[in-house]
Amino acid sequence: MPVHVEELNRTNCKTYLLTAGSEAALVDPVRERLDDYRSLLAARGLRLALVLETHTHADHLMLSRAAKELLRVPIVMHDESPSPLVDRHVVDGDVLLLGGQRIGVLHTPGHTPDSVAYRVEGAVLTGDTLMVGTTGRCDFPGGDAGAQYDAVTGKLFRLPDETVVWPAHDYKGNVSSTIGEEKRTNARVAGRTREAYVALMANLGLPFPDKIQESLQVNQSGFEASEVLFPKIAEVAGVGEVTPRDLAARLAAQPAPLVLDVREPEEFVGELGHVAGAVLVPLDALEHRLPKLAGYVDREVVVVCRAGARSATAGAILRRAGFHHVQNLAGGMLAWDAAGLGVQR
Ligand SMILES: [Fe+2]
Repeated sequence: MPVHVEELNRTNCKTYLLTAGSEAALVDPVRERLDDYRSLLAARGLRLALVLETHTHADHLMLSRAAKELLRVPIVMHDESPSPLVDRHVVDGDVLLLGGQRIGVLHTPGHTPDSVAYRVEGAVLTGDTLMVGTTGRCDFPGGDAGAQYDAVTGKLFRLPDETVVWPAHDYKGNVSSTIGEEKRTNARVAGRTREAYVALMANLGLPFPDKIQESLQVNQSGFEASEVLFPKIAEVAGVGEVTPRDLAARLAAQPAPLVLDVREPEEFVGELGHVAGAVLVPLDALEHRLPKLAGYVDREVVVVCRAGARSATAGAILRRAGFHHVQNLAGGMLAWDAAGLGVQR
C-alpha cells in the first residue's frame, strides 16, 4: 500500500500528513497548529516517526526546540539547512522509510539552497519549488532562479506524468496537480528557456512576506525571538560576505581577522569542525558577550556558522553594536569544508 498523503491546514500554507500503516510523518508543520496535529495523530492512533521540512520557511514559524523535545521525533532537512535543530541531514537521492515505505529525496534548490522535494509512490511533495501553475520566488538570500529552473525541468519534470504534485503553498484555492499538467501549463516554466525564466524571476517585484521578520531568523537559528534580539532583515541583508578561499588567504596574512563562530558548542566540535583559531560565541550569547569583544570594534571580524544564515544575523548584531569591519563567511562551514580547507575539531 502506498504512502497516503493528506493536507491538514486547508489554508494557503500547507502541511501534509503522510501515513503508512500506523506510522506518520508531518511535512512542513506550522508551529501554531501543533496541538491540532497532536490531537489528530492521537485520535487516529498514529505514531509520528518523522518531521520532514521541504526548506527553511520565511512565512511561518517552524517547530521550536521545545516542540521538538515534546514530540521526540527526528527533524529531517537538506544538508544545507542552517538550523541546528535538524537531526537528519539529507542529500539528493537519499531514501527515508516510513512504515516500510520509501520516501525519496530530490534536492531542488532555487527558492532556497536547502529546498527538497519528497517523492512517494505516485506523488511528490514539491515544497515551494513547483506549485500549481507557478513556482516559488527566488529573491531571498541564497535564492537562484537558474538552479530552480534546472530542478523543475531536470528533476521534477522527469517524474512520470501522472505523478500527483502536492505544493507547500497555494494562493488560488488549488489543491494538487500532476507533473504532466505542470509540464503543459505551468505559467512560469512551460515553453520558457532557462534564460527567459531567470529574467522573469528577476522582475517579479514581490513584497516580502508578512511574517518574514518574525519567522526567518527564528527558523534559521533555532532560537526564539525571546532568546536573541534579532536585527531587521534589511540589516542582515546588508552584511558583506567573504568566500572561504579569501578568508583562508587573509588568515595567512597579518593582521589576521578574528574568526567568530556563532554555532552551538556541539557543532563547533562536530563533523564540520571549525576554522583554526576561531572564537566560539553561540548566537544566543553574542549580545551578552559584546563587552568582552569590544577590543575588536576596529579590527576585521569574520562571522561563521553552518550555512551562513545565523552568522549573517550575528554580523548585523555586531554592526549595530559599532563593529566597523564585519563580514560573513558565505556558505558557512559547509562551503569551507567543500573548498577542501582544513579544520580543527
Ligand atoms: Fe518558502
